[in-house]
Amino acid sequence: MNDALAKALNDQMNFEFYSAHVYLAMAAYCSDDSLDGFANFFIVQAEEERFHAMKIYKFLNDRGRRATLAALGEPNNDYTSVLHAFEQGYKHEMQNTERFYHLSDLAMNDREHATINFLKWFIDEQVEEEALFDSIINKLKRIDKDSNAFYMLDSEFAGRSFTPPAE
Ligand SMILES: [Fe+2]
Ligand SMILES: [Fe+2]
Repeated sequence: MNDALAKALNDQMNFEFYSAHVYLAMAAYCSDDSLDGFANFFIVQAEEERFHAMKIYKFLNDRGRRATLAALGEPNNDYTSVLHAFEQGYKHEMQNTERFYHLSDLAMNDREHATINFLKWFIDEQVEEEALFDSIINKLKRIDKDSNAFYMLDSEFAGRSFTPPAE
């Protein structure tokens, strides 16, 4: 692969670590409000993002490139509601999808078929991520001020756990 593509992949690895940071900040907001289920949702989300980062880390190594770790930006720590956090999460995922489209363009221009294949997994994953956030936002909007339904959703998310997908 060319240097520009290798650098873009490395940037994406760092962006995935940053994404974990973003979701952990959302988890902390929920934990502070004793919303342990929503906090768990975001902790699991952060684990997923770290898994994504490590997937790119391994790929760079497999392709004879060295992964270079960068400083993580400061995530937003201020949220006005759980819905607000999910809306920001949704925006973050849409931004990430754009990044993968751009990476795929670079890989196609470089005729780097191994990387094109590798990126397909992430593009499918982004469809899932966007759909997940979108559906939770819809639920939260429907729940609105029904606190019973809100706490039921909180306890539902307490059961979410991270299982690395089979390779
Ligand atoms: Fe990710
Ligand atoms: Fe994500």
